[in-house]
Amino acid sequence: MRRNDDDDDDSGDGEGEELTDEKMATISRHSFFDSEKIAFSISIIENMKEDYGLFVWPCSIVLAEYVWQRRLRFSGNSVVELGAGTCLPGLVAAKVGSNVTLTDDANRSEVLDNMEKVCDLNKLKCKVLGLTWGVWDVAIFSLHPKIILGADVLYDARAFDDLFATVAFLLQRNPGSVFITTYHNRSGHHLIEFLMVKWGLKCVKLLDGFSLLPSDKAARLSGNIQLAEIVLNH
Ligand SMILES: C[S@@+](CC[C@H](N)C(=O)[O-])C[C@H]1O[C@@H](n2cnc3c(N)ncnc32)[C@H](O)[C@@H]1O
Repeated sequence: MRRNDDDDDDSGDGEGEELTDEKMATISRHSFFDSEKIAFSISIIENMKEDYGLFVWPCSIVLAEYVWQRRLRFSGNSVVELGAGTCLPGLVAAKVGSNVTLTDDANRSEVLDNMEKVCDLNKLKCKVLGLTWGVWDVAIFSLHPKIILGADVLYDARAFDDLFATVAFLLQRNPGSVFITTYHNRSGHHLIEFLMVKWGLKCVKLLDGFSLLPSDKAARLSGNIQLAEIVLNH
């Protein structure tokens, strides 16, 4: 998957852009505000050479902001981010006191290596794990999240079933846990609704992503981004 044209203007607040040693790598800085003052910033290494996984996608800006605004809910809890890529939401969760495991496709070592570098850059301690959706290797059995995060993981309909299988497995093994995801609503919710029924899940909250964002961040993004909270349908 390549970035969409309407996703071009998404990388952070534009502060501190600089080239690193690697030819196409840049560092974007993402600030979070408390009463109009910067509470902290997170720096992300992005790489324009890569097709996907090494950009900060708009959905992750929305999800990171949600984590920050609901920080009391995250503090002290165990969080797993799926398809984390450049992992901004997971890093914000770590910053507000969550115990965070960042995961991405086990076959994409460049993405997993980048996560380690981004954690070091921000002096945040997170576990980094290869976790491919729909694959049941030993890694997934070690996870006990209270909150599962996924930004822009619903973009390729061929992978939806695998993703929902992994999410349903984690929710079943961890009673009371929730999956919080942001996605572009390009063609309605029909497939997502069908898969939730299939995997015994239900949506308990659906928000317009833009309603969460401060105006400067909203001005840099476009599209129809939704945030959904999904739990087991007992
Ligand atoms: C569109 S990117 C979103 C990245 C990041 N969450 C963000 O919003 O900036 C999709 C991410 O899902 C990961 N991914 C795709 N297929 C996957 C799979 N089968 N298992 C695990 N991760 C996968 C990709 O490597 C990539 O990091």
